[in-house]
Amino acid sequence: MAAPLGVLVFSALLAACSVLLDKSKDQCATNGECARFGAAFQCVQNVCINGGGSDDAGPDGAPSDDGGSDACVPSPKTKNADFYNEKCTNSSCIPFDNCAKTATPTVTCASLPSPVYLTGSSALRNFVGVVGKLLASDAAPVTVVYQSQGSCVGVRTIYEADPTKRVIKDVPSAGGRPANYAIYFKADRSAQECFLEPDGTPVTIGISDVYANTCGYTATTDGSTVTDYFGPVQPMAFVVPASSKQQSISAEAAYLAFGTGGGGPWSDPRFFFIRNSSSGTQQMVANSIGVPGNAWWGIDRGGSSGVRDQLKIIVDQAQADKAIGILSSDVADVERANLRVLAYQAKEQLCGYLPDSSATSRDKANVRDGHYDIWGPSHLFARTVNGAPSAAALAFLSRFVTPRIPVELLDAEIAGSLVPQCAMNVTRTEEVGPMQSYQPPYSCGCYFDAKTKGSTSCKSCESASDCPSSAPTCNFGYCEVQ
Ligand SMILES: *[C@@H]1O[C@H](CO)[C@@H](O)[C@H](O)[C@H]1NC(C)=O
Ligand SMILES: *[C@@H]1O[C@H](CO)[C@@H](O)[C@H](O)[C@H]1NC(C)=O
Ligand SMILES: *[C@@H]1O[C@H](CO)[C@@H](O)[C@H](O)[C@H]1NC(C)=O
Repeated sequence: MAAPLGVLVFSALLAACSVLLDKSKDQCATNGECARFGAAFQCVQNVCINGGGSDDAGPDGAPSDDGGSDACVPSPKTKNADFYNEKCTNSSCIPFDNCAKTATPTVTCASLPSPVYLTGSSALRNFVGVVGKLLASDAAPVTVVYQSQGSCVGVRTIYEADPTKRVIKDVPSAGGRPANYAIYFKADRSAQECFLEPDGTPVTIGISDVYANTCGYTATTDGSTVTDYFGPVQPMAFVVPASSKQQSISAEAAYLAFGTGGGGPWSDPRFFFIRNSSSGTQQMVANSIGVPGNAWWGIDRGGSSGVRDQLKIIVDQAQADKAIGILSSDVADVERANLRVLAYQAKEQLCGYLPDSSATSRDKANVRDGHYDIWGPSHLFARTVNGAPSAAALAFLSRFVTPRIPVELLDAEIAGSLVPQCAMNVTRTEEVGPMQSYQPPYSCGCYFDAKTKGSTSCKSCESASDCPSSAPTCNFGYCEVQ
């Protein structure tokens, strides 16, 4: 529903760059012009729509979407997968789960020492795990139990008034879908599955890549207060197969592709590797390019691993040039041999920049100083009373909602392509909103540079007495301003 609204907002901007992207919002006038998308595509209200149904490449609610499913693949079937996967059969299917890595739990989560229950963003698992390890190692151990889901699930499980919606439940494997049991983190940093309560276990902290209002929540309806605690900064990125010729994308070009179904170099939505509206990655990018997160063209690949795995195997040059996806930096950075992060040129920006200072570095310099737009703090939501979270929530939050975070956590954030707040030179308070200069209360920029670049121009130190007056404090072994 929101797509046409976005079209209106942007059409004025697009007119300004008709030389670069000679493409109006109208994709087609006749069915013939949609043939390039495939035989089943038809021109409906000037947009090419797969005649099939809800699993076409258009956003749900697009003009011709009939809400049905493509059970039968229309003739002619052109590839083996059309025959393999056609659902109009009376034969039963017996799935083999290629991804089944999760063991069935052997313990109940509630039996573990002082459990605290987290759910939400899959991208923040590593970060949660390190805090989990630290807490499990305490003299009075606290057990971090975590179930990976979309960011907006993390928000929902804290904001909802109905207590039955503020729980997480065991998800055994079924019908080819892998199991999603909660896991808990041990002092050796390993993780193991555990059983939640049969009727669901209440969530202590919801974790999200995006602000609550991005997920449609502004306040609780039961009078409770929710506090959003900021964790490390997470960059999101456009990615293409490594063999693609594309190096850069603008907000306007991304708008044409994901908002109107095609434009510029990316004109075939079957090659758009996207997520859905519950994905923090998609919602954050949506804010920067001006296409509502629930109205994207492209095909939902069912998670960041789906985007990654399906995009990186594209080798045909023509397909590679058409293909584009979205990933968080932590997923994209470990795939640099297979996927290229595109430089991004935001609205009003004159040139595109990578999150890092170069394609081979990991310094996130352009995120840290504001040259790269698509980033935001990770969010940890907890219900609070008179400003205070529950004791269980506080046990987790106290490890990083502090100017000086433990060095082990700092290292894990850096290794996980996150940027700790203490290494940021800019800050913002809304989703991809206005930026302001930022001086962290306990800076770790020098340490971050040393870790990611192997060197820093900062003076090393053992104590403040080693530091010059221009950078008088000794933080994590380097002289910093503060
Ligand atoms: C499935 O079985 C029903 C009932 O026997 C039959 O009408 C239908 O044609 C069958 N479908 C296929 C695809 O064989
Ligand atoms: C959105 O994607 C997630 C996986 O990332 C999936 O679990 C969820 O069912 C999807 N939601 C819809 C409405 O398709
Ligand atoms: C952040 O600001 C400090 C102090 O001005 C500067 O030395 C450093 O290079 C900046 N870092 C980045 C990544 O911009």
